[in-house]
Amino acid sequence: MKKLREPISKIVPLEPPDNGDMQPSRTERSKGGVPLSDGPIGGTRSDVKSLYSTPAAPAEDQVAAVSGKVVGSHVICVVNRKGGVGKTTTAFNLAGALSQKRQQVLVIDLDPMGSLCRSLQIRPGGKTISDLLFGLGGSLGELIRKTHIPNLYVIPGDPNLRTLEMRFGTSLEYRRALRGKLAEVLKWKPFPFVIVDCPPSLGLISGNALIAASEALIPIDGSAYGMGALIDTLGIIKLIQNNVNQDLSVCGLLLNNVDLSTSYDQTVREVLKEQFRSLLFETVIPTAPESDICSQIGEPVTRYAPSSWMAKAYWQLVNELYERFNVA
Ligand SMILES: Nc1ncnc2c1ncn2[C@@H]1O[C@H](COP(=O)(O)OP(=O)(O)O)[C@@H](O)[C@H]1O
Ligand SMILES: [Mg+2]
Repeated sequence: MKKLREPISKIVPLEPPDNGDMQPSRTERSKGGVPLSDGPIGGTRSDVKSLYSTPAAPAEDQVAAVSGKVVGSHVICVVNRKGGVGKTTTAFNLAGALSQKRQQVLVIDLDPMGSLCRSLQIRPGGKTISDLLFGLGGSLGELIRKTHIPNLYVIPGDPNLRTLEMRFGTSLEYRRALRGKLAEVLKWKPFPFVIVDCPPSLGLISGNALIAASEALIPIDGSAYGMGALIDTLGIIKLIQNNVNQDLSVCGLLLNNVDLSTSYDQTVREVLKEQFRSLLFETVIPTAPESDICSQIGEPVTRYAPSSWMAKAYWQLVNELYERFNVA
């Protein structure tokens, strides 16, 4: 399906402002509601290149890529400061594909919006993850819910996560809360894959996820404001690697919601490849109508539309991850 696209000449090559999370996603742009440039920047390939080439971008070797066999669970944090890049879509469909491969998968929904669990029609119960992480005792295990998808379990997010982030955002005390609680769960139920869906911010909640994680997976959508958010995200990962969680690595950057039949998206991919080399997954998740349908009906694309391009891309992603993780 061809997506409606704003002409390149209208896209502003700016670093995101402080509220970069609020920038329009590609999907919003494609729906036409876009606050764009005061002045055109031209529409050549080199414009796209300059848009995506920032000298501040860390080279691949500044952020360790996964190598060698990782023993134990893969705790994959799906993170990007920018909203609308496909974090929830990636977390859900990757978890679905892995569970179809008979892997026991636990998804932790840390987005206060709770979209992932809403589409699975699972609501938080009496005790929520924010109760557990920020105050009340108890085990994370109590919050684990079975889904209708074989091998797939979830811990629902809840709206209080947002207020708690505002209240405790600067507190050191709560930064490692998820790591400790998750370690307890993995002792009695060693899920080989745990996937954490993060909110579109790099505060206490995403910090908790990155401190608990063994790998970070960063979906990017190639939109005009995406590069600044990517650099910020990599910066936080580096900070956490250096100071708190030396086991954390970036398992890859995933280009999502792109149409490689357009020269814009081809160029974005080329430039990302030049800058990040093997850190960029070969897999590209195409713009696909199945994405919205799947989240509405709560079915991963590999189950709902197994022969679609999007499903094939997720199988390719699983293969790439298996290679990077040395999973037999
Ligand atoms: N590959 C894709 N093709 C089409 N739409 C997509 C794709 N990936 C994501 N979307 C849509 O973009 C919107 C934002 O995706 P979402 O996963 O919620 O982003 P995030 O979690 O980063 O905020 C959703 O409506 C989703 O269905
Ligand atoms: Mg989300």
